[in-house]
Amino acid sequence: MPLNVLMVASEAVPLAKSGGLGDMVSAYGAALRDAGVEVSILMPAYPGALRRALGKTPVGRLAGLPGGDATLIRAQMPDSGLPVLLLQMDHLYEREGLYRDPGGRDYLDNLVRFASLAAAAARIARGIRGIKRPDVVHAHDWHAGLTPLFLKLGGVRARSVFTVHNLAFQGNFPLAMGSWIGVPPELLAPALTDERSIEFYGELSLMKAGIVHADRVTTVSERYANEIMTPRFGHRMEGVLQSVARKVTGITNGIDMEVWNPEIDPLIARSYSAVDVSGKHACKRALQQMFGLEREPFAPLVAIGSRLTEQKLADVVVDAIPAMLVQHPRLQFAVLGEGETRLEQRLIALAAQWRGRVGVHIGYDEARAHQLHAGADMLLHGSRFEPCGLTQLYAMRYGTVPIASRVGGLADTIRDYSLDYGRHGAATGFLFERESVDGVVQAVDRALDAFGNPSLWHALQRNAMERDSGWGRPVARYGELYAALTETRPVTARRRKDAKGVESALRAQRETVGATAIVPDAGLAMSA
Ligand code: ADP
Ligand code: GLC
Repeated sequence: MPLNVLMVASEAVPLAKSGGLGDMVSAYGAALRDAGVEVSILMPAYPGALRRALGKTPVGRLAGLPGGDATLIRAQMPDSGLPVLLLQMDHLYEREGLYRDPGGRDYLDNLVRFASLAAAAARIARGIRGIKRPDVVHAHDWHAGLTPLFLKLGGVRARSVFTVHNLAFQGNFPLAMGSWIGVPPELLAPALTDERSIEFYGELSLMKAGIVHADRVTTVSERYANEIMTPRFGHRMEGVLQSVARKVTGITNGIDMEVWNPEIDPLIARSYSAVDVSGKHACKRALQQMFGLEREPFAPLVAIGSRLTEQKLADVVVDAIPAMLVQHPRLQFAVLGEGETRLEQRLIALAAQWRGRVGVHIGYDEARAHQLHAGADMLLHGSRFEPCGLTQLYAMRYGTVPIASRVGGLADTIRDYSLDYGRHGAATGFLFERESVDGVVQAVDRALDAFGNPSLWHALQRNAMERDSGWGRPVARYGELYAALTETRPVTARRRKDAKGVESALRAQRETVGATAIVPDAGLAMSA
């Protein structure tokens, strides 16, 4: 019998997305399914998810969850056909944002909203009519963090895996609220007295609950698994993580190699491949036009595409842009992002001041993200910490050479152009250490030097495009982990999709993008 895995997450594209979490959950789920595992995703029935999911059929009522009664709806992803279970509790999930109201304030009942999700997962795992009991329950990030604990409290035999996507967002709430959601008092006692406690610096923490109670903990890159054991990257959770270090592993994310493929991408001006990149010129022209940049085919064009937050070093990058424009008279920037208002405003002002050389689009736009990666020469991706990062993987796939901070998944996935990985080596980009204007400027200088040497640049582009960012390796590693937990044989990854599969993926993508189906959360993505 195939292994059965229930994934529990607060977002999964194209039903709901605020960042890379939603991409990962769906792309990984589909890849795991293609490797022969039975997979379904449990997530809240947000209005957008109900609108987009196909084949919705109610399968039962779940009474008495922390937030009240729920209806469970079985459905499929519109693109991959992956089974989803939508937890319908309109009083909790029928709202515009995933985590925050349009004014950017966290919903006051987030604890109850996400405790209900975890409690529903535990009920399903214990067994409800019409749904197969999972062997493994795989919970993602703090929103699903109570799942492993609720499995234990419910006496469920399924094993649990908890994946940390971003330790900066921990889901910490007043300790007194623990009793509302059914956490026994001894698990709310000061952590020093009981190592199973989910108390964390005087609050209760859903992230900690996941880390402490899961059978295995994973992070989304190998380096991040080590980084978070230190005060610099641990967000105060380093002590907890050190105490369970034996069960923590890093598995670097893959990406959907068909949705992000310049050879077949319907959203870009002209297709191209690592063998023949000539189509990228047309994509660059289209990007310059779209962002109001001068039509200069040989001007180096740097893309910035991410949440505009301090995590992404956007505050420093904004300060570095004028210095770079002065130093390099032909340099151009195309910025796509949204986030902190003051940073958005600075960028808009820069675009006005440097007309033709800085183009800014504030907002969330999936199609534009494809066009950005296809048309730019380089991606500037600073990060103070980066659990994995998908943006640099997308950029590399499109031959857009990343210039990125040497942290987490960025350091794991980009090979710095240095003596070791010289011209004939396997360099795919440029890494920098410092979180300062100088650090950014010098990294971009290095990249511009290389850009001035066409044969070197083409080698970098080609290396980047040929990087295997598919799910084969990560699926095999998760497979080993599940097998060890359940004492079964590991799954082996299969290559995904025949030509027909690609066709239908593209069709679905066109439909969802055309309808601007992917709506980001109101205000800043993801909440603490
Ligand atoms: P994080 O989840 O920390 O924001 P990732 O790199 O893992 O970082 O994932 C970010 C995802 O969000 C990628 O799919 C990226 O393309 C997308 N994204 C971020 N900002 C925008 C935007 N303004 N428009 C379109 N896509 C965006
Ligand atoms: C989080 C992280 C990001 C990672 C993504 C998917 O959003 O910030 O680095 O790529 O999750 O795992």
